[in-house]
Amino acid sequence: TDRYAVVGNPVEHSRSPTIHALFAEQTGQVLRYERLLAPLDGFETCLRAFAAAGAKGCNITVPFKFDAFELCSHRTERAQLGGAVNTLRFDADGWTGDNTDGAGLVNDIQKNTGRPLAGLQVLLVGAGGASAGALGALIAAGPARITVVNRTLDKAQALVASHAHLGVPLTAATLAEAPAAQDIVINATSTSLSGAAAPVGAHVLKPGALALDMMYGPKAQAFLDWAASHGAEPRDGLGMLVEQAAEAFFFWRGVRPDTAPVLKALRATL
Ligand code: ATR
Repeated sequence: TDRYAVVGNPVEHSRSPTIHALFAEQTGQVLRYERLLAPLDGFETCLRAFAAAGAKGCNITVPFKFDAFELCSHRTERAQLGGAVNTLRFDADGWTGDNTDGAGLVNDIQKNTGRPLAGLQVLLVGAGGASAGALGALIAAGPARITVVNRTLDKAQALVASHAHLGVPLTAATLAEAPAAQDIVINATSTSLSGAAAPVGAHVLKPGALALDMMYGPKAQAFLDWAASHGAEPRDGLGMLVEQAAEAFFFWRGVRPDTAPVLKALRATL
């Protein structure tokens, strides 16, 4: 049986094994998908042992997406652009790294919220790994402008600079300078990990705006409550999680699963 895993630290709460088991069942693919806890100082060893045991690939989660990028012998264009890898395929001629996070985010927004992204004003809050993985795919969807705001301005500026050639107007600013009346606001900071609400003022929300936090479960609640109380449509990161998994499944198996029933099943267990 072909083996896959999600590798991270911590990893015990990951929903990926459930999602991939449902995809496999739905598409008739035979595979096994596990959780693999890598020691913080032993990621490479853990990964090499898994590949040597005959595994076909894996997903990479916090905090190893940048380390995974370094260990690949080939990288897809979108992994290259984001500088991080969340999906690895162990090919005969080396490891290929992909990043499906951005496509997952864009697919969730377009398919599940009915918002086109094209022509809209988008605010991306945060300039860490999660933002870096998402920005390229957001740009490809053709919004009118993307503003990246971050506590540390340097990091927002660097992220914008590395994507400036892609043809969509991009602006970097501090959290305090976040622009008003955005159509879509995406929280890609780790502030919700501590249960805090949004790191930007409610003026960023146009009435009826989509306000999406990349987290899900209790961690996202403060942001979702903040969004709803200011007239926005709140959305957590569960849809993005399922969509990025579907992209990874396709990268490994060449088959595209139907995500809607899987998201529904997962939502029911949250
Ligand atoms: P991830 O991989 O989840 O993106 P990261 O690369 O450590 O993690 O990035 C965390 C993001 O959350 C960054 O944008 C960080 O801002 P800085 O670049 O200024 O560090 C943001 N962040 C974390 N804690 C925050 C806080 N208390 N207030 C505002 N932003 C915060």
